[in-house]
This record gives sequence, structure tokens and C-alpha cells, in this order.
Amino acid sequence: MKELDRQEVFELASPFPYVLAVTLDKRDRPNIMGLSWWMFTSWSPLMIAISVGNQRYSHECLEHHKEFVLCFPSEGQEKDAWICGTKSGRKIDKFKDTEFKAIPSKMVKPPSIEGVTVAFECKVVDRVETGDHTIYIADVVTMRGNPEQVMHLYSIHYTKLISIGSNGNIKMDLDY
Ligand SMILES: Cc1cc2nc3c(=O)[nH]c(=O)nc-3n(C[C@H](O)[C@H](O)[C@H](O)COP(=O)(O)O)c2cc1C
Repeated sequence: MKELDRQEVFELASPFPYVLAVTLDKRDRPNIMGLSWWMFTSWSPLMIAISVGNQRYSHECLEHHKEFVLCFPSEGQEKDAWICGTKSGRKIDKFKDTEFKAIPSKMVKPPSIEGVTVAFECKVVDRVETGDHTIYIADVVTMRGNPEQVMHLYSIHYTKLISIGSNGNIKMDLDY
């Protein structure tokens, strides 16, 4: 084993999943952020945690409204998904400035995103401060998806997106 610095270790540990968290701001305007730091935390009940930087607009949104939808963007959505991970909702309206279409969720107020592979509707039940991020722990209240969209996105070194299918197929050179 060799000692690695942070850059090296994050490169070596790639790819990471790349998902989108849809939240609501104080004016009830939906916002979307790109997110790799998420996990299932419980099977029964099904629960999910996401780790959100304290400076993110999404953090402000989650402090205001304790629900989110965790969407897995499908192949073909990489351009807009990347915008959501590189631009803040403080500066742009991500549903207006991308092709993403908001569709009503079933059990929570933030909308879901049309065409994603899967969408978990979540209600926050707890929060844990951890360094410069806050972990929001949530109950999954319903799940929906598009079974034909098997290919969804992963990030390499947090700098490039690739697509990996639930069938094991991989596409490296996405056009975005
Ligand atoms: C590949 C990738 C993964 C990311 N993962 C996270 C994450 O897990 N947590 C986080 O707080 N920010 C993450 N970000 C950064 C946010 O998506 C980014 O700061 C975004 O602009 C925040 O938007 P907001 O200010 O509208 O909330 C990630 C960005 C990229 C490109």
C-alpha cells in the first residue's frame, strides 16, 4: 500500500454515483443540486441520507422545507445534470435555464424530474452536522422510475460524467 493525497485517492476511488436532489426554496421555487454523497441508511423502513455543503443554496432550501426528491439522471440528461452540479440556484433557476421538466411528485411538495431513471421522494427526519456539510436523513415515502432508462450517470474525479447501466453497460464519451 502507498500513502495517497486527497486528489489521488478521489481519482482512484472513482467512479462515484451522480444524482440530483430537488428541493424547494423560501418562495416555493424548486432547485436542483448535483450530488455524489448519498447513501441508503435503512432497509425497513427504507431511508436515505444526503450530505449537503453548508454554503449550498440547497442547504438553505432544506433548512426551510424538509423534503427532497433524489433523482438519478439518465443518459441524455448529462448536460443539464452537470449544470445542476456546477451552478448555484442563488444565481440561476435550474428548471428555467435547463431542459429539465418538473413533474408533480406523489407524496412530497418538491417536484420530480421527467425522464430520470429513478426518483425517491423523501421526508427529512433528522440532520447531523459533519464538518462543512450537513447530513439530512430521510424516510423514503414513495419511489417512481422509468424502467426503459437503464443508463444513468456517474462521475469520474468529480470532473467528468460517464453512464453506467443497471444492465452493466458502460458509456464513457458523453456529449455535454
Ligand atoms: C460530480 C459532482 C458531485 C457533487 N456532489 C456533491 C455532494 O455530494 N454534496 C454537495 O454538497 N455538493 C456536491 N456537489 C456540488 C454541488 O452540486 C454544487 O455546489 C451546486 O452548484 C450546488 O447548487 P445549489 O447552490 O443550487 O445548491 C457536487 C458537484 C459535482 C459536479
